[in-house]
Amino acid sequence: MSAQLLSGKEVAREFRKQVRVRVQELVDKGMPRPSLTVVQVGNDAASTVYVRSKVRACEKLGLGSTMHKLEESVPRGELIDLIHTLNADASVSGILVQLPLPPHLNATEIINEVDSARDVDCLHPANVGRLWLGDSHVTPCTPQGIIEILQHYGIGLKGKRAVIIGRSNIVGKPLAALMLARHATVTLCHSRTLDLPGVAREADVLVAAVGKPEMVTADYVRDGAVVIDVGVNRQTGADGEEVLVGDVDFAAVEEKASAITPVPGGVGPMTIAMLMVNTLRCYEYQHGLSA
Ligand code: GUN
Repeated sequence: MSAQLLSGKEVAREFRKQVRVRVQELVDKGMPRPSLTVVQVGNDAASTVYVRSKVRACEKLGLGSTMHKLEESVPRGELIDLIHTLNADASVSGILVQLPLPPHLNATEIINEVDSARDVDCLHPANVGRLWLGDSHVTPCTPQGIIEILQHYGIGLKGKRAVIIGRSNIVGKPLAALMLARHATVTLCHSRTLDLPGVAREADVLVAAVGKPEMVTADYVRDGAVVIDVGVNRQTGADGEEVLVGDVDFAAVEEKASAITPVPGGVGPMTIAMLMVNTLRCYEYQHGLSA
């Protein structure tokens, strides 16, 4: 069996179109333009690539974007002062503090300073709590992107066994909340899980979000399972070029899975599309336009 390809790239195109249309509608009505502000601390190479693509995506959809790049050694107080200034700026709809932060900064403490109404990542403790209660104005970008891919391809979650490998605050934990809300039976695995391949083989829907290239081999996958690969691992190819590799051994797993997301072109484009959606959601929330 060769698995159906779940193209996040295609699904993302539809969401970007919806955002572009809505932004134009708001601007045509004379409303201020929704805008995203990204804060990057230091020069982490992967972060620089991500931040650039987030800013470019905003520009393409007509969303405003502002970038603040701070020195690696920025004092905690200076970063918090900047966040407070952004919180008080009516032209800032969404604020994203790119992670990871340098070791002298505590990410939880910093994110707690972001106005929860402007928290496009859904990482603020108030929004994390609301997410678990099913009542947040935004949902986290990568997990929501995964839910939208499954929905687009008609893959239901109700009554299914979902196994998530990776318990990060940004993917694994919030994805568990979203899948649980859709009536999946969710198992959240991590580095101390005993017999990980055995647990993974119980999955109808298996999600790999660990950051270890091709860790999920065919041995982890039950025949006919749906496999979602969140990994974005940069490796050097045979000709010295940079290649992106997922957390899943794609060639081996696609023989067993019924459907699988590729890397690139799977979850990645959805993360950015959902960030654009969340910028709009934060704007609508602040302007009392939420559904
Ligand atoms: N670093 C890697 N992915 C993300 C993301 O989605 N949001 C933030 N803030 N930082 C990240």
